[in-house]
Amino acid sequence: GLPERVTIYEVGPRDGLQNEKAIVPLEVKAAFVERLVAAGLPIVEATSFVHPRWVPQLADAAELVAGLDLDGAIPLPVLVPNERGLDRAIEAGCRHIAVFASATETFAAKNLNTTLEDQFAMFEPVVRRALDQGIDVRAYVSMCFGDPWEGAVPIEQVVAVGTRLLGLGASQLSLGDTIGVGTVGHVGALVEAFGAAGVGVDRLAMHFHDTYGQALANAHAALRQGITTFDASAGGLGGCPYAESATGNLATEDLIWMLDGLGIEHGVDLDAVVATSIWMAEQLGRPSPSAVVRALT
Ligand code: HMG
Ligand code: MG
Repeated sequence: GLPERVTIYEVGPRDGLQNEKAIVPLEVKAAFVERLVAAGLPIVEATSFVHPRWVPQLADAAELVAGLDLDGAIPLPVLVPNERGLDRAIEAGCRHIAVFASATETFAAKNLNTTLEDQFAMFEPVVRRALDQGIDVRAYVSMCFGDPWEGAVPIEQVVAVGTRLLGLGASQLSLGDTIGVGTVGHVGALVEAFGAAGVGVDRLAMHFHDTYGQALANAHAALRQGITTFDASAGGLGGCPYAESATGNLATEDLIWMLDGLGIEHGVDLDAVVATSIWMAEQLGRPSPSAVVRALT
């Protein structure tokens, strides 16, 4: 059967906003995070301590987290690519970070200015120093289902990258379909391959983008495999500025609608998330791409 309860890992303030061209005011970002927490989301990824020239939208990361409750009951993780990013995150008082690796050579170059191999040398001291300080570390793998430059990505390559990240000490691995090309059979094969490599579903999260309209079907396939953590973005905002053709994430509201239909608990107030997405759409000046937000508006 399906799991009775899932954790929705909200990425709207980070993955949702990182691709926005016009700079969103600091107070709007802070209100976005706070409204998502108030809506019952159990974890909200707040921002990134990446190079401000690479992602100008999130250049205000330190100022943003300074106004948030970093020691509260709801974890507010931040992306950290390297030691400089970790220094900044520690200085800001962050208790939860996420490193983000690439499953492919091309995207390691485009997104991290490194190589498939060298990314591990970049993350190793980040994870070690974070764990020494009691900071929790999540690890993402991008391009798990396909890469815009390389095409198909072998499952063994994804498993090799993922198991190395867990070996460094990451507590959870989020498997990213960065460009949304994955389909249900592929999801099943990938989760099974991790299982065969000794990585159980309790350590995996799925991170779907809805570019090809497959995100909900893929989430359902992952639920059937026993996955209980799903990344989602309020209103379906998002995309990676360094991934060609990447569009919005699986919308939090679309995921909630499906979970509610299945009777799976998640603890999030759908109306409060919809209201937040409508408010954010007004701030951004265009309607939410989420079908559920549009249907409920
Ligand atoms: P680089 O240019 O190679 O950096 O960028 P460097 O190490 O050569 O350093 C150059 C200068 O940058 C130095 O300053 C560093 O101090 C500084 P200088 O000595 O010249 O004055 N620097 C920094 N400053 C602030 N914060 C930092 C930092 N690091 C170096 N963290 C780097 C390498 C990794 C920094 C760059 O490539 C980068 O920031 N990349 C991030 C790109 C990004 O954020 N992409 C989107 C997130 S990933 C994603 O969306 C996918 C995901 O959602 C899952 C999925 O969908 O698949 C997670
Ligand atoms: Mg993403």
